[in-house]
Amino acid sequence: IKKIGLFTSGSDAPGMNAAIRAVIRTAVFNNIEIAGILRGFEGMINGDIEPLTTKSASNIISRGGTILKASRSEAFKTVEGRTKAYEEIKKHGIDALVALGGNGTIKGVKDFGDEHPDIKIIVVPCTIDNDLRGTDFTIGYDTAINTVIEAVDKIRETAESHDRLFIVEVMGADSGMIALRTGIAVGAEAIMVPETKSDLNALYERLERGRKDKTSKIIMVAEGHEPGSAFQIGEAIKERYPNYDTRVSILGHIQRGGKPTCMDRVTASLLGVAAVEALIKGRSGVMVGLIHNDLTYTPFDQATKHHLDVNAEFKRIVEMLSL
Ligand code: F6P
Repeated sequence: IKKIGLFTSGSDAPGMNAAIRAVIRTAVFNNIEIAGILRGFEGMINGDIEPLTTKSASNIISRGGTILKASRSEAFKTVEGRTKAYEEIKKHGIDALVALGGNGTIKGVKDFGDEHPDIKIIVVPCTIDNDLRGTDFTIGYDTAINTVIEAVDKIRETAESHDRLFIVEVMGADSGMIALRTGIAVGAEAIMVPETKSDLNALYERLERGRKDKTSKIIMVAEGHEPGSAFQIGEAIKERYPNYDTRVSILGHIQRGGKPTCMDRVTASLLGVAAVEALIKGRSGVMVGLIHNDLTYTPFDQATKHHLDVNAEFKRIVEMLSL
């Protein structure tokens, strides 16, 4: 390969900059030219492409967000959009792509790669949702869950002072991975995720079984939980237990920002290097990942989730530990 086009696509995730740095530096180390494509697929279609040097990667490892900017592209979902993108990257002499993103990104590059097999493509998994197959942890997840527990620890303090019940909604699209892990870490009374059925009666039962002298309660709800959003669950609880002082708190986009944790920086560095080295070895059409600390290469069509299996142990212990 002669020239890599690097881009970040879909939602940003803390640690993307660390991965960008690793890809740039590994390319330069191996005398491969590298260009940044701005705003993901949109920049590819518009030819928004600029050279990257080793200096471009200076002092970005500790920063959240993405210096290459990110977006979701409707145009890239069409053959015309992808054809235009192909023409633009060819004009810039790009013969390989490293894409940093999650489900939508993988779907996009899969279609693009099927139509243009002369372009070699590797994906580095970056999303706070941790909802991809082929890696234990996606880049961004660790920072996001640490942001969540910091916020919910604060909520717990005020909940305790006021004897309140809080429903806390966290991100994750249609995955409950953020809610599940943080729920354990904050000592939640209950965790509600889209992957497993949770009915309100089970929640009521759970609340009634709880210690009577325990005055603060936290229920973690993944944003994709159905049926019943955090607000709907809050309303139902208010109606059934008028004596509970109930509040709903939606954590929102604070989960997407912030300085990446050590774990996200290291994973991003390992996988950024692995992506370029995979291209050098002639690989294409795969997502690099780490499973039990071993480097893995997962074909695009196997990396996108349907529904991941929820760790049954997490569900089992949460009720026992929050008694
Ligand atoms: O995929 C990351 C994510 O933060 C999801 O958890 C969430 O559902 C979505 O992106 C939010 O997207 P937007 O920033 O476009 O509102």
